[in-house]
Amino acid sequence: MNPNITTLPKVELHLHIEGTLEPELMFELATRNHIALPYHSPEALRKAYQFDDLQSFLDLYYQGANALITEQDFYDLTWAYLLRCAEDNVIHTEIFFDPQTHTDRGIDFDTVINGIHRALIDGERQLGISFGIIACFLRHLSQESAFETLTSVLQHQDKIIGVGLDSSEVGHPPQKFQQVFDQAKASGLYTVAHAGEEGPAQNISDSIELLHVSRIDHGVRCTEDPELVDMLIQTQMPLTVCPLSNLKLKVFDEMTQHNLVTLLDKGVAVTINSDDPAYFGGYMNANFAAVDEAFKLTNPQLAKLSLNAINASFIDEPTKRVYRQKIQHWLDNTK
Ligand code: ADE
Ligand code: ZN
Repeated sequence: MNPNITTLPKVELHLHIEGTLEPELMFELATRNHIALPYHSPEALRKAYQFDDLQSFLDLYYQGANALITEQDFYDLTWAYLLRCAEDNVIHTEIFFDPQTHTDRGIDFDTVINGIHRALIDGERQLGISFGIIACFLRHLSQESAFETLTSVLQHQDKIIGVGLDSSEVGHPPQKFQQVFDQAKASGLYTVAHAGEEGPAQNISDSIELLHVSRIDHGVRCTEDPELVDMLIQTQMPLTVCPLSNLKLKVFDEMTQHNLVTLLDKGVAVTINSDDPAYFGGYMNANFAAVDEAFKLTNPQLAKLSLNAINASFIDEPTKRVYRQKIQHWLDNTK
């Protein structure tokens, strides 16, 4: 791996905490919670991680989340991810969780958020990693269910900074969630949405215009609409791109065909993120390395990717300034 990737301070903005559940921890939790898994070993489970598209991944991902039951499980899951962040020099992370994946199977919202939040607080104190938490609505469920979830989110607004929209994009366009996003925004929450991953470029424009999002998660299909790309450049609307995820879910056949670097060079505010690293073959450094292998990133390009993420984050301005200085320091001291 390019050693400059290792030392570059990084900010992650697109990470599903349930997607960090490594097979080994899944087995440990299943044993602890007396749950039977349909695989005989972590290796057998890992071998099943061959996906044709987003839905084939989501089916396994929701099944995997069944191993998470207690507040300690959510703590352990989040703590394991934070240790990976420390290894990869991630200085700030804004993580997603999917409340309905857990509440729909009888796990209390409080159990989930309290476990995740406690680990992130420990991570901030012990590892120096700052954080934000974003609750995602599952778009294959109804807006009514999203409204119920929003009620719980608002009871934990001291811990949750925003809401997002994930799960099956095709057939579940942004307008399905317009009212619940309006209410979230009116309540002071940030909004983000997955769009233009498997769904059309129109979903990106609609998420911006109808859901008033601050960032687009994925957004790689924007290139199908040149006017939209121009608008993304003008407005500096951030895209949280996930290169290894896009390869695993066959959004692109080869990394050399990925549009991330073209978009970066055009001035789109793209960032690199890991999405569901336990399923897609790597955390932040692995994602940067995969792009670097295909495109040979220069140090200014690497720095720009981190600066884009700092600018796109929901960090307060004084902290953003400190983080920008870290990138400048890295650039000044890296050959
Ligand atoms: N949930 C977890 N990962 C996702 C992705 N890449 N797209 C949509 N929903 C998701
Ligand atoms: Zn995602």
